[in-house]
Amino acid sequence: MRPVPLLWAAFLASTSLGCSSSEGTPPPGPGTGGSTAGSSGSGGALAGSGGSQAGTGGTGGVSGGSGGGGSGGEAGSAGSCTTLLCDPLAEMPMSIKDTGLFPAAPDLSQHPPEMLEYVPDPPLWSDGMEKQRFIILPAGTQIDTTNRQQWVFPEGTIFVKTFFDDSGPAGAPRPIETRLIRLAMDGFYEFFLYQWNEDSTDATLLVDDIAGNVNTETPVNITVNHTSGGQQIVINGGQPFEHTLPSRNSCGACHETNATVRQTFIGFDELRLNSKLTPDAPTTQLQAFADAGLFTQPLPADPATITDDSADGGRLLRIKRFVFGNCVSCHNGQGNVDFSPDVFVANTVNQPTESQSVEPPPGWLRVVPGDPSTSVLYVQMERINIPEPVDGMNRLRPMPPVGLADVAVEPTSLQDVYDWISALPP
Ligand code: HEC
Ligand code: HEC
Repeated sequence: MRPVPLLWAAFLASTSLGCSSSEGTPPPGPGTGGSTAGSSGSGGALAGSGGSQAGTGGTGGVSGGSGGGGSGGEAGSAGSCTTLLCDPLAEMPMSIKDTGLFPAAPDLSQHPPEMLEYVPDPPLWSDGMEKQRFIILPAGTQIDTTNRQQWVFPEGTIFVKTFFDDSGPAGAPRPIETRLIRLAMDGFYEFFLYQWNEDSTDATLLVDDIAGNVNTETPVNITVNHTSGGQQIVINGGQPFEHTLPSRNSCGACHETNATVRQTFIGFDELRLNSKLTPDAPTTQLQAFADAGLFTQPLPADPATITDDSADGGRLLRIKRFVFGNCVSCHNGQGNVDFSPDVFVANTVNQPTESQSVEPPPGWLRVVPGDPSTSVLYVQMERINIPEPVDGMNRLRPMPPVGLADVAVEPTSLQDVYDWISALPP
């Protein structure tokens, strides 16, 4: 990895947005990523993270495909090009400005066309914050989709995910953190986190995979109070609360554990892309990316999805989806009990806890039919009513163990789990 000179100012002056312009035209077609992410105004590019549906994000990402070879920019040696877009393996700079990813910060809806926006469904719930996600594939590469549960990404693939609270002017979205994962040389994944400054003009590298303490977590105060997919998301009564910027080791707790069965890039897979970016989008994101030439294999006739035919108004389906999005990265049967949709009920209802560090009081089970209050699953998800250990016994842990503030549990899913357990015949 070579150090990157800081040519940001010259870069902005000489090009429209990104390295691609050195090669000429941006990708063709309507809704190219370009300088406007879809139809978004302020905050419009943010995808809904709370509900199950994609929010109001633009369609630019999906249709601005790089697979067709339009995105130009020669990896590595393109002389004048110094950003991650041209040199995906470049050293991660201290200032996010120098990555070239957000040329118009504080307006993060503008991004270079190589950045393809998507929304995983179901998403990870993170303290109720909204998120914006991109994949950047090295020019001319494809994702090997032969193994449907474990896609193989090309070296130099970068994923970017920014978290927004609602503490901007007049409650507007404000970026708090941007996380990156890069597939570097020899199958080695690197994790990074940038923390945004107060006025959202720049963000500083805080979690550096190459250097620094792997256990440092950083508390920040955030405010969450917005509408997403028609649903009001208010955490802590709209008052500030503490959100934790995770450590490098925490990243691994979810991403590296997920990779033991699925992918390190958790959210970009067949199941989570089998959904529309916006309700009126013509195709699923999966289809749009396939059409843009991103995948080596044709799409399967029956793309992965989560189903449930209980006559309960969709409640158990919603639970399985939430658990898949928020728990299965760790609970995948490799050391931790498997909560994958097909085995979720079998592995929870009337099943005893089998765990090193969770040791519930006598009579408790993962799910006790009819009684949420002695169901380990519910009590740990609820977080706030976890009983104190007695003589070091009866230990329970809030779940998920990282990435969630006690005040910020997703209320709909918690209620669904409560109702589901209550309705199970004892
Ligand atoms: C609690 C588990 C958890 C922790 C901790 C976590 N992630 Fe993730 N991350 C996820 C899940 C699940 C997704 C996919 C769903 C989504 O994006 O909403 C994801 C998505 C991402 C993405 C988009 C690409 C992808 O893998 O889907 C990036 C980039 C990312 N995380 C970076 C990080 C970094 C860097 C850290 C540590 C600083 C971190 N994450 C910590 C669970 C976690
Ligand atoms: C970052 C990884 C991670 C995530 C994400 C996570 N868990 Fe856990 N979970 C653990 C670990 C580690 C244990 C303890 C396992 C042990 O000690 O053997 C555990 C234990 C549990 C147990 C007790 C295990 C048993 O045998 O009964 C339950 C129930 C549980 N988690 C539920 C959840 C739920 C529900 C979610 C999602 C809302 C979740 N977890 C998300 C890591 C995770």
